[in-house]
Amino acid sequence: MTMPDLAMHILDIMENSTRAEAKHISLEIVEDHARNSMSITVSDDGKGMTAAELNRALDPFYTTKRERRTVGLGLPLLKETAEQAGGFLAVSSAPRKGTEVRVRMTLDHIDRPPLGDINQALRIAIRTNPGVLFDVTYTVDGETETFTTRDDPQGNGGVPDNTV
Ligand SMILES: Nc1ncnc2c1ncn2[C@@H]1O[C@H](COP(=O)(O)OP(=O)(O)OP(=O)(O)O)[C@@H](O)[C@H]1O
Ligand SMILES: [Mg+2]
Repeated sequence: MTMPDLAMHILDIMENSTRAEAKHISLEIVEDHARNSMSITVSDDGKGMTAAELNRALDPFYTTKRERRTVGLGLPLLKETAEQAGGFLAVSSAPRKGTEVRVRMTLDHIDRPPLGDINQALRIAIRTNPGVLFDVTYTVDGETETFTTRDDPQGNGGVPDNTV
């Protein structure tokens, strides 16, 4: 299979959030050329994980042992991808509070996957999860674009049809 781009990983992370019954999901993408860094943060108000569950979630061996692995890419693959691109993946989570997944990579690293079609990933996430509030910010060198489904919970949240 071709290597997943970051938009596919982001969709996968947001799917984890909706499966954890999140009602509010925030996505923040920051590209900073001066710092040569790219970071992606997804936070949710879902059911969260205990420390033991979180350890298991990040363990690639545990993950590959399960039989029902569908189209998902999983946190371990994104962690490996981030580390190969000069960065890291960090997850903080607490039961009944929610989860935050933070990914950082070197912006110009040869092994950093392209962002890909983030608008399409967002449209899929929003359309398949009506009633979930999505807040998105995309910042490039200090210039921030935002959108929210707050006023349009069933719609496409104003996600434009073109690719970022
Ligand atoms: N946002 C989250 N809130 C609560 N639990 C989570 C969250 N993200 C991940 N988890 C837990 O971590 C596990 C591993 O997540 P991961 O995305 O790696 O694999 P998966 O979702 O089980 O399978 P796949 O993504 O490969 O279909 C999940 O099954 C879930 O139990
Ligand atoms: Mg998953």
